[in-house]
Amino acid sequence: MTPLPPDFARHVVDWQRRHGRHGLPWQNTQDPYRVWLSEIMLQQTQVSTVLDYYPRFLARFPEVSALAAASQDDVLALWSGLGYYSRARHLHRCAQEVMARFGGQFPKQAELLQTLPGIGRSTAAAIAAFCFQERAAILDGNVKRVLSRVLGYAEDLAVLKNEKALWSVAQELLPQDPADMPRYTQALMDLGATVCLPKKVACEACPVQAVCQANAQAQPLAYPVKTKKLKRSSATLWLLWAVNAKGQIWLQKRPDKGIWAGLFSLPVFDTEEELLAAWSPASKVYKAHKAEYLEPWKHVLTHRDLHLHPVRMKGAEHEVPACEGEWVSAEVWPELGLPAPIRKLLSD
Ligand code: ADE
Repeated sequence: MTPLPPDFARHVVDWQRRHGRHGLPWQNTQDPYRVWLSEIMLQQTQVSTVLDYYPRFLARFPEVSALAAASQDDVLALWSGLGYYSRARHLHRCAQEVMARFGGQFPKQAELLQTLPGIGRSTAAAIAAFCFQERAAILDGNVKRVLSRVLGYAEDLAVLKNEKALWSVAQELLPQDPADMPRYTQALMDLGATVCLPKKVACEACPVQAVCQANAQAQPLAYPVKTKKLKRSSATLWLLWAVNAKGQIWLQKRPDKGIWAGLFSLPVFDTEEELLAAWSPASKVYKAHKAEYLEPWKHVLTHRDLHLHPVRMKGAEHEVPACEGEWVSAEVWPELGLPAPIRKLLSD
């Protein structure tokens, strides 16, 4: 690893002042609740999407105590559409732990923040740096890319020892003055989001171009090196869209584990046969009603392609599918926490 000059942090901080992002709603606050919420939302979601959800979430839960006191269903309903619902469940548990273990005040040290549900090392450091000016390094996917390029660090980051080495360097590169920590931390995020992108680089706009090893080698895209390829899988889900005479639909709360955990969904089946069986207890009646096979489509998640096959069935009021759930009216279901593809299916 090529050492970087001691004024690395200063260049980065100066650049942020002039060219970084400044007006985002979670900036210009040192309230750890607000910063924490933004960091969790931003973990796997684009800024443009978070801009939509963040103010709504805060309006409903203005403080950590309000979030802790909410039901999980209410939290998931507000999260609906952001995806990665384990984030929302951890978020809720984290709020409850902040109340129970820390009297409603987020701890100030990254080390303690990291003991809370859903807060990893990098998120803990971001909160501690933004709110409490702690000299703690962040190293999320974007920052790994920026630093491995500047340093020309070609070791495989899928190997824990190499990742640890990068953490150490990230810590050494921090500004000496704790007062610079918020801006420095934001600067690395901004560089990763606007200049040093995964497949496109704007090296001429980069404040550390002159010391960047990847740039010197004219090989910015060769970094970071990560061998473990994400294994994608696919699954086929049959969705029972049962509608009764009142226009209500049959929804079930998903179990705590597995796909769409904790959300409300149309009943999900692995096969068409299982789906048909779930509607057949009212069998004679069911046979009289035609199953309407809607156009299947592919919903792409990070690790998995979901092939969704909705089947719509209309039934009488007294009929009930042979699977867990309840009839929910059109006034109620839009308010529930539904997976985005199910919400879209029902609304179209
Ligand atoms: N991504 C993660 N944290 C962020 C932040 N504070 N601002 C913009 N994008 C981010």
